[in-house]
Amino acid sequence: MAAAAAATGAASSFAVVSHSQRGRRHPTRVSAAAAATTAASSPEAAMAAAAPPVPMMRVAPETLQRQSGYLVRGRGAEGEREWAAKVEAEVGGDAGEGGPGAMEYLTSVLSSKVYDVAIESPLQLATKLSERLGVNLWIKREDLQPVFSFKLRGAYNMMAKLSHEQLEKGVICSSAGNHAQGVALSAQRLGCDAVIVMPVTTPEIKWRSVERLGATVVLKGDSYDEAQSYAKQRCEQEGRTFIPPFDHPDVITGQGTIGMEIVRQLQGPLHAIFVPVGGGGLIAGIAAYVKRVRPEVKIIGVEPSDANAMALSLCHGQRVMLEHVGGFADGVAVKVVGEETFRLCRELVDGVVLVSRDAICASIKDMFEEKRSILEPAGALALAGAEAYCKYYGLKGENVVAITSGANMNFDRLRLVTELADVGRKREAVLATFLPEERGSFKKFAELVGRMNITEFKYRYDCNAKDALVLYSVGIYTDDELRGMVERMESSKLKTVDLTDNDLAKDHLRYFIGGRSEIKDELVYRFIFPERPGALMKFLDAFSPCWNISLFHYRAQGETGANVLVGIQVPQEEFDEFKSRADNLGYEYMSELNNEIYQLLLRDPKMQCR
Ligand SMILES: Cc1ncc(COP(=O)(O)O)c(C=O)c1O
Repeated sequence: MAAAAAATGAASSFAVVSHSQRGRRHPTRVSAAAAATTAASSPEAAMAAAAPPVPMMRVAPETLQRQSGYLVRGRGAEGEREWAAKVEAEVGGDAGEGGPGAMEYLTSVLSSKVYDVAIESPLQLATKLSERLGVNLWIKREDLQPVFSFKLRGAYNMMAKLSHEQLEKGVICSSAGNHAQGVALSAQRLGCDAVIVMPVTTPEIKWRSVERLGATVVLKGDSYDEAQSYAKQRCEQEGRTFIPPFDHPDVITGQGTIGMEIVRQLQGPLHAIFVPVGGGGLIAGIAAYVKRVRPEVKIIGVEPSDANAMALSLCHGQRVMLEHVGGFADGVAVKVVGEETFRLCRELVDGVVLVSRDAICASIKDMFEEKRSILEPAGALALAGAEAYCKYYGLKGENVVAITSGANMNFDRLRLVTELADVGRKREAVLATFLPEERGSFKKFAELVGRMNITEFKYRYDCNAKDALVLYSVGIYTDDELRGMVERMESSKLKTVDLTDNDLAKDHLRYFIGGRSEIKDELVYRFIFPERPGALMKFLDAFSPCWNISLFHYRAQGETGANVLVGIQVPQEEFDEFKSRADNLGYEYMSELNNEIYQLLLRDPKMQCR
């Protein structure tokens, strides 16, 4: 418990930091009531705040899981498309359904002013990766931009088009990351005032770097949505221009300049461009340009399998809202893709590849080995997708491009990245084996492991158990070696489970093996705690003293939101009351009661599972 409390961060609610307050250790605080009064002082703002949200289909990311590298296509997009004809017929000229047409995007990209702030980033051959995969893998180094991501292109392109009067009134945006820096730098160049609203959970390093660029930072709300609604209210009140992170033709056009550069930089045959997808601005811009001038080049999106809003929207033929979104690749942790970005993507994008968190970590390591650069998770996403796709489809000898989109890595996250990188590249496997509690069984186990290299080993004696359970990892292996070892164990009656793809095992239980217990009525959940003081107390207030907490495990991983494993004893007849309190708490949570590893490691076999 103490560890969890310490780890819930130091940010505080409703803190306002202004440019003029630079050098202060902590942001000034304003009360929630004061902030609310300001927010409601304009009728338009009040109306905007009260406007009912547009109903949207809510979908869980788990409903679309595909093998890594498999190309998820949109509805009715089976087989190869005749892109040239399609682009011409569907979005050619200026006749797009509701937004600008392909020709308009093409001419806007060609006349874009992004080079006032952005560099033409290099396109480099990743030699080691290319050799390993048997293709020519080119990396488009957007991580080398002045603010270490491509986001300044879109922001500047939109802001450079504002009138003198609009620039005088200033701009505003909400962002917890790279877009904030893009807007701040653009405002500095254009000499206009910028207010950047960030959730109170934003790490100090991020808001400080925005402030350093001369913008006024306002920390407001616990989530991006709250920060955004506050920014929109202020935008109305102060007549500022709102700069959206992805869903605006000018932003999309700015990102599209990357497509123009790739086409110029790589003139030979090109199989595909792999693009990380959050709200879809980057891929929409690249597709709008490239499909017009090189329609044969595939434009392939890459999303984390737990943040797959674009893949799901394409499959459903409409924008959907994710019920929950994985925060590891925070740059692309978006619940709903943009309207205009979706319109373009459903017409122009060839599909989306989904990759695991482990694969992203492995690609961060690959990039480090290749160029000695550290990408942030979203920045390495396209590399992971390109590798998975090439392997899945057995691509050989082709040119492929992956966009390395950002390098604003949260340093604390590196520990998790290094832990998972080997798992992602299948250089480490996580396993559990049952051993009879009898003399000589450990030795027998060691013999069966053979030449495999054990990298981790956890065991705890349970006096009530006939069998002991060991949790361990083995390093550097081939699939055949691993299968061989598991078969040796099984044929010697040592039940063995491969947990390599089980996130619960890797995040929590490999650090937490306390043996199985006879705990009555135990429920087990993963809760996502907001990283702010009081989060733990709010949690305990909701459930305690009604029910006993039987398990609590947290390990800081640098994610947005702390991932906490909780066991709680709730008699069946009180479940409805528990559920209603858990829902009211407002933290995301999911049951892990039926997770195989929980049943294996922590649950007494005599206890009945609900
Ligand atoms: C590093 C990085 N990569 C990719 C993306 C995704 O871009 P988009 O939201 O335009 O799809 C973002 C978005 O902020 C980002 O910061």
